[in-house]
Amino acid sequence: MIMKTAIIYSHSATKTKQAAKHIKEAFEKPIDDIDVDGLNPDDLKKYDLLILGAPTWFDGELPHYWDELVPAIEDLNLKKQKVAIFGNGDQVKYPENFGDAVGLLAEVFESAGATTIGKTSTEGYTFEASKAIRDGEFAGLILDFENQSKLNKSRAKTWVEAINN
Ligand SMILES: Cc1cc2nc3c(=O)[nH]c(=O)nc-3n(C[C@H](O)[C@H](O)[C@H](O)COP(=O)(O)O)c2cc1C
Repeated sequence: MIMKTAIIYSHSATKTKQAAKHIKEAFEKPIDDIDVDGLNPDDLKKYDLLILGAPTWFDGELPHYWDELVPAIEDLNLKKQKVAIFGNGDQVKYPENFGDAVGLLAEVFESAGATTIGKTSTEGYTFEASKAIRDGEFAGLILDFENQSKLNKSRAKTWVEAINN
């Protein structure tokens, strides 16, 4: 089945933009690239697969640009949509809240009925706690630009292979 796919993130978020570039390159075909800033939440329903970028900010919170969309997203019916979430975190500076935004955004989309895909192993990361963890795995892909940037490309590629089949 061909899935209509969009990648949605803040085009002003420097590192998230780099992460998105790795993810887009790992897809064999072009996918729609949407800026969260100016997103019409109803447009989310046009896609089968939504790839969402959420770096963790403010000690374990979503960035403003996602936070302000939460009420509108929770009002949608996204039962037909799959979501795959990627985010950045810094496991050395924020070991108690590592990549929390990935888990927080998964909860928001699931409350609108969406199904989260693309869980990843916590192996290779060192931290104390993360709201992104479910049943011992991360709810999506977490990249650590500050401490493990060399792994970004390969982590993104492996993740896209897992969500794109
Ligand atoms: C003020 C501030 C707070 C942060 N809080 C967290 C945090 O709670 N957990 C975490 O894993 N990373 C945290 N980070 C690290 C960012 O998620 C990381 O630098 C990310 O790559 C930023 O992505 P962006 O440039 O696309 O916004 C924080 C960074 C800053 C500057």
